Amino acid sequence: MSAPETDTTDAGTTTPGVAVGTTTAGTGVPAAEADADALRERALASLTTARARTTLLTDSVDEPDLVAQHSPLMSPLVWDLAHIGNQEELWLLRAVGGREAMRPEIDTLYDAFEHPRSERPSLPLLPPAEARRYAAEVRGRVMDLLEGADFHGTRLTEAGFVFGMIAQHEQQHDETMLITHQLRKGPAVLAAPDPEPAPPFTGPAEVLVPGGPFLMGTSGEPWALDNERPAHPREVAPFWIDTTPVTNGAYQAFIEDGGYDTERWWSPRGWAHIRQHSLTAPLYWRRDGGQWLRRRFGTTEAVPAEEPVLHVCWYEADAYARWAGRRLPTEAEWEKAARFDPATGRSHRYPWGDADPGPEHANLGQRHLRPAPAGSYPAGASPLGVRQLIGDVWEWTSSDFLPYPGFRAYPYEEYSQVFFGPDHKVLRGGSFAVDPVACRGTFRNWDYPIRRQIFSGFRTARSEAV
Ligand code: AVJ
Ligand code: FE
Repeated sequence: MSAPETDTTDAGTTTPGVAVGTTTAGTGVPAAEADADALRERALASLTTARARTTLLTDSVDEPDLVAQHSPLMSPLVWDLAHIGNQEELWLLRAVGGREAMRPEIDTLYDAFEHPRSERPSLPLLPPAEARRYAAEVRGRVMDLLEGADFHGTRLTEAGFVFGMIAQHEQQHDETMLITHQLRKGPAVLAAPDPEPAPPFTGPAEVLVPGGPFLMGTSGEPWALDNERPAHPREVAPFWIDTTPVTNGAYQAFIEDGGYDTERWWSPRGWAHIRQHSLTAPLYWRRDGGQWLRRRFGTTEAVPAEEPVLHVCWYEADAYARWAGRRLPTEAEWEKAARFDPATGRSHRYPWGDADPGPEHANLGQRHLRPAPAGSYPAGASPLGVRQLIGDVWEWTSSDFLPYPGFRAYPYEEYSQVFFGPDHKVLRGGSFAVDPVACRGTFRNWDYPIRRQIFSGFRTARSEAV
């Protein structure tokens, strides 16, 4: 395979509906204006979708639940709400719009770096009604600003980047708030239809990904965040990767085989961690006689065997893989499996190609409140046939969260740069709780290897014997 020269996303923006560098056929409207209209619409739609979800997540619980801390790992929901508004004010109204601070005294309360999550309930936070009013007021002013927005001339607004960044930020906190909902005790307040049932997947269990270079990351995807940049060639040796994420049924076999009692499957730190915290199964699982049950958004159900396993930490994923005679994929392997098209040597935006995600491709956007059965979404498969890389469950990789060669922090160091290093492991692909605006074949998430309240699962890999 020859070295890839083009990142498809660098051949002009592939964002549907956004014409680039031409006049819009038949209208006589100069391209720049048509671009601006399309960008305005995309920014508006992304911000509006995010706010509808934020509203759902914060209106579905009562006041005491909004201000309560449901877990020391999480902020009170009312903190996320005002923090969303505050970030939007900082970047869209102040940085782009040059406006004065609306309430300068609250900035410190909602600065994630000044107060760890465990401290946030004791801060003098805006009460729910005020937090809602503040976020709505910011949004109203952003709508005015967007009317006259010029998307050219500054790096922040070029191609609508900062609007996309803020829509992604809100959606990321919406996923965080959904995690809080799952941690919260009490009756169910959220509902969504289940994904289509699917018969047990009977296709090949693993797929061979050919060795050679591929283009990792992106330089041209307009709303990609700093840690996804720049595009750069990566050499990857041939490897096999699971066609689907590891299921509950498969994970149960690991448990039943004494997986949590067998030191040799675990990394030394992983073993120490599960012993210290007496972990014996994924978070939310409990055994009832011969059957595994789990708590899920206020209800209890039998663990569905065909669903991808959820709420496992990196140490558990790593141990399962060793027990199975396999290993976790590296981050580069994961991205090659997800983006590389062996027919052309190019890297696509998504496993299925360059089109934005639709409901036929992937389980995204909290459309469902659970992952879909393993083997779902054949239309979302990669050219090599790997399924469910996008959506369903975040997938742990073996890799530490590190900058790509040529990385530049943008627009703030606290998004990615301060987290680089051996403390965090990379997760890829997004979960059912990730909105399409915050999900790409290049998107990188990270967390501590002990975390499992997140919507995390995994798939395994093995090196091709050479
Ligand atoms: C990328 C999910 C790790 O939630 O900590 C939100 C995203 N950054 N506000 C996080 C983020 C700033 C971040 N993760
Ligand atoms: Fe944030």
